[in-house]
Amino acid sequence: MAYLPSEKRYDSMKYNRCGRSGLKLPAVSLGLWHNFGGVDTFENGRTMIHRAFNLGITHFDLANNYGPPPGSAEENFGKILKQDMSAYRDELVISTKAGYYMWKGPYGEWGSRKYLLSSLDQSLKRMGLEYVDIFYHHRPDPETPLEETMGALDHAVRQGKALYVGLSNYNAEQTREAVHILKQLGTPCLIHQPSYSMFNRWIEDGLQDVLEKEGVGTIAFSPLAQGLLTDKYLKGIPGNSRAAKPHGYLQVRDITEEKVLKVRKLNELAQERGQTLAQMAVAWILRGGRVTSVLIGASKVDQIEDNVAALNNLDFSKDELDRIEKILNE
Ligand SMILES: NC(=O)c1ccc[n+]([C@@H]2O[C@H](COP(=O)([O-])OP(=O)(O)OC[C@H]3O[C@@H](n4cnc5c(N)ncnc54)[C@H](OP(=O)(O)O)[C@@H]3O)[C@@H](O)[C@H]2O)c1
Repeated sequence: MAYLPSEKRYDSMKYNRCGRSGLKLPAVSLGLWHNFGGVDTFENGRTMIHRAFNLGITHFDLANNYGPPPGSAEENFGKILKQDMSAYRDELVISTKAGYYMWKGPYGEWGSRKYLLSSLDQSLKRMGLEYVDIFYHHRPDPETPLEETMGALDHAVRQGKALYVGLSNYNAEQTREAVHILKQLGTPCLIHQPSYSMFNRWIEDGLQDVLEKEGVGTIAFSPLAQGLLTDKYLKGIPGNSRAAKPHGYLQVRDITEEKVLKVRKLNELAQERGQTLAQMAVAWILRGGRVTSVLIGASKVDQIEDNVAALNNLDFSKDELDRIEKILNE
């Protein structure tokens, strides 16, 4: 069936300015790391993209290696764009990345100019796009000079193959250096994509200060700790969950009794707030306005709906924030 987006798609989403740039991003964005690959059901992915766009999610995040198999999430996304959404390209912010292993030999991963620029060409081809909105270096490379990697990002913009550039998984010091190099090259760093959730707070220790000072936006990945910060693992490991999948990354051994106990207490607090735990986890990341967008993953349409509804209650009392700290530190 042909897809016709909802006329009301911009009515309720919140859009936040990304650092000191001209670009705004939805407070909730959707990532295609899992559930959009060749091993997954194409129609389910397609329905999720449609619903997300109808809810005002304009930003979709990919990477060269998303699948499995690697590359297949970009291929599937490209198919969906072509089939249903090519008329809406200018309403979309599409990102991709290069940094992790993608092809055999010495040029298929890390941070060389050779790898980054070939990988971007491959990504554009898979998605059937002329340009991406954001091209990221996916992880720092301990061997390649930062000048070369940042030079490749700058070149991608000058070639017209990316509108903006970003960094992912860089620590505070690496970020500071990279941002300065990009500034000198005349291609300011738009955004940083770090992991961040109630269970993973490393960015509070320096990185957030660098990003704020430099005017770089933040998009937080794995905000639900891959599903742990929801009510789904409170009664064991559901058969269709990420933890149960062989390619899931979230391991059954990560779901410890200690973690589940904290999740149970957080879940009670979320209920008192009239939210699901997933919603409270999303809202908590947006507290204080330091994060531009929360980059969720989803395996079903109703998860996207649940997470976006977090925006109905973003306020926390001091008592609630203190109780969350106490539970996390117990
Ligand atoms: N830059 C990087 O290095 C990097 C690394 C990782 C991720 N990312 C990006 O961040 C995106 C999100 O990462 P993520 O998938 O780990 O994020 P996440 O939001 O922490 O986890 C998503 C998973 O949580 C479960 N879930 C989501 N909403 C739910 C709800 N309302 N109720 C119950 N369960 C819910 C689903 O698991 P089930 O499948 O079990 O249903 C879903 O697949 C990725 O797609 C990717 O774009 C980037």
